Amino acid sequence: MPAIRGYAGYSYRWEGDDALWSSASRRSGEHILPAQGECIQCHTEAAGGVLGLELNQLGDFSYEAGVYDQVDTLQYIGVLPADLQEVEPLDGSARAWLHANCSGCHRPDGSNVELDLRFEAEIDWCAPPTLGMGDTLRAALLARVGTRNAGQMPPLATDQVDLEGLELLQAELPSCPDPEDSG
Ligand code: HEC
Ligand code: HEC
Repeated sequence: MPAIRGYAGYSYRWEGDDALWSSASRRSGEHILPAQGECIQCHTEAAGGVLGLELNQLGDFSYEAGVYDQVDTLQYIGVLPADLQEVEPLDGSARAWLHANCSGCHRPDGSNVELDLRFEAEIDWCAPPTLGMGDTLRAALLARVGTRNAGQMPPLATDQVDLEGLELLQAELPSCPDPEDSG
């Protein structure tokens, strides 16, 4: 993986057939175009700069010749080295959603709060959050994903709650005992 110094973010917006460079953050219809300096806030050095197309996101794919595992195929045609470490593929779970959307910042050395949301991390959902917004990490996380205000997560480049993501998290994150009951 190249050092992050090798990458820089550039924002372009369409105007008719022209792609115009725009260094400041702006709105385009329903979308927020992040400012150039904002790219790197999510595309962190800790995550190697690139957030998508990780090995664990490459599963079966329907090629002309049939359905094959993409990693096996890319190894077969020599694009990927043969001696890759086995990784657990991401599924459609809440943990996979958190990995894709949040783990660029929330991984060791990724942001200034100690929270590892990578797919493989061990998480105590019922521990108290460092920064409040609920009694448990589970509650704080749901509150942050469910708001577009102070404390929202992700913290930038979005002003709409991902309702499908929120429902997935509500359904799948293990529930915690009611603090009132434990005295
Ligand atoms: C709010 C966080 C966030 C910001 C800000 C952001 N990105 Fe991303 N970006 C992501 C995530 C998350 C993915 C991977 C999505 C996936 O796994 O499919 C991604 C994917 C990409 C990709 C595909 C390659 C890759 O890393 O997966 C490119 C290229 C990209 N972003 C460019 C930019 C540029 C340029 C900017 C600034 C104008 C920017 N991004 C700002 C979160 C962000
Ligand atoms: C651009 C980097 C970035 C991204 C992307 C991001 N976060 Fe955060 N997160 C932070 C920072 C910085 C803080 C600490 C400051 C704050 O509370 O706003 C934080 C704090 C938190 C906290 C509080 C932890 C505690 O112990 O109190 C939770 C929970 C959280 N984020 C969840 C998420 C979730 C869920 C996502 C994905 C939907 C996400 N974050 C995406 C940077 C990020």
